[in-house]
Amino acid sequence: MTSLDLRGAADRAELRLDARALAELDEVERTAAILTWRARMLNEHVSARVFTALARQLERAGLHSGRPARVAAMVAEEWRHADRCAAVVEVLGGAAVVELPALPPVPEHEDADALEAVLRNVISVSCLSETVAVALIDAERRSAGPPALQRLLSEILADEVGHARFGWRLVEDLAPSLSPTLRERLGDYLVIALDELASHELAHLPARPSPSVAAEALGVCDGHAARRLFFATVNEVIVPGLQASGLPALSAWRAAQESGAWAGSAA
Ligand SMILES: [Fe+2]
Ligand SMILES: [Fe+2]
Repeated sequence: MTSLDLRGAADRAELRLDARALAELDEVERTAAILTWRARMLNEHVSARVFTALARQLERAGLHSGRPARVAAMVAEEWRHADRCAAVVEVLGGAAVVELPALPPVPEHEDADALEAVLRNVISVSCLSETVAVALIDAERRSAGPPALQRLLSEILADEVGHARFGWRLVEDLAPSLSPTLRERLGDYLVIALDELASHELAHLPARPSPSVAAEALGVCDGHAARRLFFATVNEVIVPGLQASGLPALSAWRAAQESGAWAGSAA
């Protein structure tokens, strides 16, 4: 199995944390914080991989106007995020190395033409995942204790806002030209995408509180609050935003809630 090895990240980021913040953690909390940031490091790596595929799919669909180049820049940003998360692992005393699990291929959507295929992925990645990331990272930034960690999360947040906006703009730009049939097909896809989003996010946001205030200040979030924020983001941002572009997101979200194995496991 290959691994993602980002050792030396703390030096690259010139990240140092106040010794007092670290001294407030007991060993269990320190381990929880290391595991949290190591999981984020892996997530960022996965995001870089997804945007690499998306740049190619945008080219294939003929959606130029600088969009593939912008997405290529996002790949570099996701790599930098992985390195920044690795830096936090290191200042917490962990090793910035993680085994890479077998990752499923980024969907090519063989049943759809190039435009529909890339729209599905842009909606899934930017309008869903990145929009949720913006909400969660903003909350983490507010809870972060050490100023250096607040700055690091602010830097990541600014990029994630750009990643989410990219998709929202693309959907807004193309929405007026989408046929009723394509809107309906995208609505069918949204049932699957929203189900997968909820399954993924809830699996990564265990319904338990942060072990302590000190751990929360170093990024181990309160799972109950994070789950509430996730559902609020879907209900108040994602669904209305897609509806405004003429996509039947509300009915898709209701269908996902009825069919999803996660349903009932809210906050
Ligand atoms: Fe990221
Ligand atoms: Fe991102």
